[in-house]
Amino acid sequence: MNVDKIREDFPVLQKHTYLDSACMSLKPKQVVEAMNEYFYEFPACGERSSHKLGKRVTEEVETARKKIAKFVGAKPEEIVFTKNTTEGLNLAANALKLEKNDTVVTSDKEHNSNLLPWLKFNHDFVNTKSGQLDLDLPKAEVVSLVHTSNIDGVSFPVKELGKIAHDNGSVFVVDGAQSAPHKEIDVKKLNCDIFAFSGHKMLGPSIGAVYVSKDLDLDNFLVGGGTVANVNDGKPTFLPIPEAFEAGLQNYAGIIGFRAAVEYLEKIGMKNIEKHEAGLNKLATEQISQIEKVSILHESQDRSGIISMIIEGVKSTEASLMFDSHGVLLRGGHHCCHNWFNKNKLDGTVRASLYLYNNQSDVEKLIEAAKKVAQLG
Ligand code: ALA
Repeated sequence: MNVDKIREDFPVLQKHTYLDSACMSLKPKQVVEAMNEYFYEFPACGERSSHKLGKRVTEEVETARKKIAKFVGAKPEEIVFTKNTTEGLNLAANALKLEKNDTVVTSDKEHNSNLLPWLKFNHDFVNTKSGQLDLDLPKAEVVSLVHTSNIDGVSFPVKELGKIAHDNGSVFVVDGAQSAPHKEIDVKKLNCDIFAFSGHKMLGPSIGAVYVSKDLDLDNFLVGGGTVANVNDGKPTFLPIPEAFEAGLQNYAGIIGFRAAVEYLEKIGMKNIEKHEAGLNKLATEQISQIEKVSILHESQDRSGIISMIIEGVKSTEASLMFDSHGVLLRGGHHCCHNWFNKNKLDGTVRASLYLYNNQSDVEKLIEAAKKVAQLG
């Protein structure tokens, strides 16, 4: 993997040390160019108008759907385009035909996006210890878990958990926002019924997709134009999934950019990306763990490309501003996981998150900045 060459595709890196890809990844030129082609050459609507430009949009959307489906081991008709992972998880909570008294189990480490949509049901937490979840799931209608945590980068063994959930008769939903960008995903092998992920964390524009198993019996979620074959006497005949869930005009440029992002990742290879991030994280962890007053959350675990730091005497949000003043861009705070931080009585962390375009020099800058911030604590 030639990181110097990869970095040429990301002009922002010439000016900034960017370590906030868990929030928003950068986009390579190839993604921007693919989106520009839509805007300049065929900026029409898909699946409706049968003129030349409309047909081109429809073809491009379906090509993107096929590519993205293959990327996560799904069939094209099992991929629904969304705004983001949050919308995919809201789709799950609203479409799964649950009753108010049905039980939904999540872990205590969930992002608000995989907690708030479920709270209207009878909700139960499974607790984590040292960042890990016991392989012991209660019986429930739905189990919905994060794959890789955005708090600390630790992954749950979703394949095994999915098997247990299925043995218990539960539908298994997975928040893949932090895993799909960083490792090979096969939703079928992972035993997922629903798997939500975001394009903007994997080199694409602000868009998402959700895998929805063909075997599920679902209600509608958002409805409107594009979701029906016909309406008579106020009675709609809904189209099958995915159309049934893609209401209104879609983010066509976003879908096209998402396809270009997946092509870029495939060209580099997900195994290479995972290995590269693990190598950089090892280097960062060895050095940062030596710095007085700095500790890394769940330091001894495999943490993908995430280094979540607690700096004694410095509030996490202030620490992130200090890193910024030293030229290192990362995120401080609760990372939208208030529940877990409150439960563990932590103010938050200052989180560096790596991706395929980061290099050893970025890690060295992070280490140097961490030393300086810790001195002020
Ligand atoms: N979930 C995103 C993050 O962790 C927003 O930064």
